[in-house]
Amino acid sequence: MYRRHRRLRKTSAIRDLVRETILSPKDFVYPIFVIEGENVKKEISSLPGNYHVSVDRVHEIVKEVLECGIKGVIIFGLPSHKDECGSSAFAENGIVQKAVRKVKELSPEIWVITDVCMCQYTSHGHCGILHGQEVHNDETLEMLGKVALSHAKAGADMVAPSDMMDGRVAVIRDVLDQNGYEHVSIMSYSAKYSSAFYGPFREAADSAPQFGDRKSYQMDPANLREAMREIESDIEEGADIIMVKPALSYLDVIRWAKDRYDYPVAAYSVSGEFSMIKAGAKLGYINEKAIALEMLLSIKRAGADMIITYYALEASRWLMER
Ligand code: PBG
Repeated sequence: MYRRHRRLRKTSAIRDLVRETILSPKDFVYPIFVIEGENVKKEISSLPGNYHVSVDRVHEIVKEVLECGIKGVIIFGLPSHKDECGSSAFAENGIVQKAVRKVKELSPEIWVITDVCMCQYTSHGHCGILHGQEVHNDETLEMLGKVALSHAKAGADMVAPSDMMDGRVAVIRDVLDQNGYEHVSIMSYSAKYSSAFYGPFREAADSAPQFGDRKSYQMDPANLREAMREIESDIEEGADIIMVKPALSYLDVIRWAKDRYDYPVAAYSVSGEFSMIKAGAKLGYINEKAIALEMLLSIKRAGADMIITYYALEASRWLMER
């Protein structure tokens, strides 16, 4: 006698009935890259189907997001001016601040998340304030607090620190609370690895470090238990949502985070994960739609409650046509 598992795979009806994980547009958060200038909507070469968009045309993206039934966006800015300390990251009329105001005006119900980091804004491309060749942790914290506050003032619903400095969640929570933004939530890039999968993003965001790498602040891809310590600190410091990034090569980290902590887990399916599929599809090696949906499903199955993905629009359309 043996068990007949295939009985529950017999027809599409029974497969539908026993399916454990169901992907939906409601799982996705769509990244938007806003750029200074007017009347710009230019495809990002390293992220096909994604655009650099100026604030006056951001409505075109918002319209698609709404049509797809996507609930959240995360905004990245490309400033026109960079300096040593990334001062345009917290300018009242900085690119992200303008974009947040615009998106909220266009659609108050869209959940607007902002990436809080310095690397797009510093001339050296590192995620904080430099002392010599070192990113200085505690001086950077002060800047991150200012950036988060400026995003909250512009109307962001949630700020997402991606710099990996120690203590940033505590500082940001404190600054927000002291200024009357206790209702603004924090999604922390808790387990953010020093990953080669960020390559296409750095081209898109013009944020590659001008010297060295990010290994002294982002995590070593070899470490899983250390990710749990990072998550624990962020929760203690006041994070509302914890994030694992990248996603596809880190499904074990997502699963551990889900099992160990009773907090929502976000997974960031990063630029390299997206661009690899795009490139493979262009060469005719793989079936793009099937692979992209399988990848996103696996991230959800691993435990992600929400997925930040450059496929958000396309995948939502594919799911709607099924
Ligand atoms: C900023 C930031 C990065 C990403 C998100 N926020 C780049 C980095 O850390 O170098 C990467 C996103 C992606 O690859 O899609 N620190």
